[in-house]
Amino acid sequence: MSISSKIKENMAQGSWIRRMFEEGTKLKQRYGAENVFDLSLGNPVMEPPAEFHRELKKLADHPLPGMHRYMENAGYPQTRDAIAKQLKDETGVGFDMSNIVMTCGAAGALNVVLKTILNPGEEVILFAPFFVEYINYVDNHGGVVKILPTDERFIPKLDTLEKAIGARTKAIIINSPNNPTGVVYGEDFLQRLGEALEKKEAQYGIQIYLISDEPYRKIIYDGIKYPSPFLHHAGTVVVTSHSKDLALPGERIGYIAVHPQCKDRDDLMAGLIYCNRILGFVNAPALMQHIVSRLQQVTVSVAEYQQKRDLLYENLTQMGYSLVKPQGAFYMFPKSPLEDDVAFVRELQQFKVLAVPGSGFGAPGYFRICYCVDDATIRGSLPGFQNAARKFGLG
Ligand SMILES: Cc1ncc(COP(=O)(O)O)c(C=O)c1O
Repeated sequence: MSISSKIKENMAQGSWIRRMFEEGTKLKQRYGAENVFDLSLGNPVMEPPAEFHRELKKLADHPLPGMHRYMENAGYPQTRDAIAKQLKDETGVGFDMSNIVMTCGAAGALNVVLKTILNPGEEVILFAPFFVEYINYVDNHGGVVKILPTDERFIPKLDTLEKAIGARTKAIIINSPNNPTGVVYGEDFLQRLGEALEKKEAQYGIQIYLISDEPYRKIIYDGIKYPSPFLHHAGTVVVTSHSKDLALPGERIGYIAVHPQCKDRDDLMAGLIYCNRILGFVNAPALMQHIVSRLQQVTVSVAEYQQKRDLLYENLTQMGYSLVKPQGAFYMFPKSPLEDDVAFVRELQQFKVLAVPGSGFGAPGYFRICYCVDDATIRGSLPGFQNAARKFGLG
């Protein structure tokens, strides 16, 4: 066998999102793309804001000298400075550019952080449901995942967390607004989480990193102000990107931000910059760094996403689906009317609607709907949801 047996095995297991994508492609070939309503992929249909194209054109018309050359592995000082300023405005915490590393998206950022902090066999705690790639990323760097439950509103259970933390715990990954639930963690929860981590750090004499994965931070509804974990734990490391808030997932631009008061901060920063290099990212894309440094105040239309949420949420609840109202991101995670979520998603396919089983996110008994699609796709999916609701006796 030419490729690693572990990779071969992992690939064979595949992800549910990928499987649904492949089945969806077949359905679209059979019935025509316009007759299949695909709510399975988190690939935003929105175009980047006009300001993005304006800055892109400015740079193309007036290129900066040396703008395509190698740079410091951490990224351009002016970009890191712009991000530090934005974070300081948002949180009140005293960031400067020395706390920021530019990365190839949030995915690149997560891999750089995990590579930097993990010794073989150290544990990273996740809360189900979770973004499924976390498992691959922790495994990439020799760590072991420990998966803990959330409550009926998808908030992590802190008593279970306290019991699960031990001497080998290195980090906890949280994700708010959450993929796949759309839930936003409140200030009160983050405060209690910070207190629990500090208690456990003292008990075991360890540092526990709170890795906060925040690519949806600016896609937040109902006038909620994003509660930042930076205010509740000095060991907070934020990983994020402009894949969603500027609709640039193909451009691979994101960053890591480390709390200025993080223990051994200088060591950690040096490690992150080194790992950005040796993982082969070298640095985040130069052109995008130039652009996003000028767009820190700009976001795609959140109102448009909120309208999509409302349209889908109101219709699904009327049909009898049980779901927690999302407060951010562009996902919903209703209860599956059938205990077997995979079977239910296959039923939805019969009605030409594509969703992803909760099993793909470590939470069987639910299914994920992604509404970063045009309104016609959302409206087109409603009869299918209605038929499935009738068939399984909802409402
Ligand atoms: C929760 C979460 N984290 C990380 C990522 C990766 O984002 P990026 O495109 O910035 O690498 C995604 C992408 O969908 C996500 O949903």
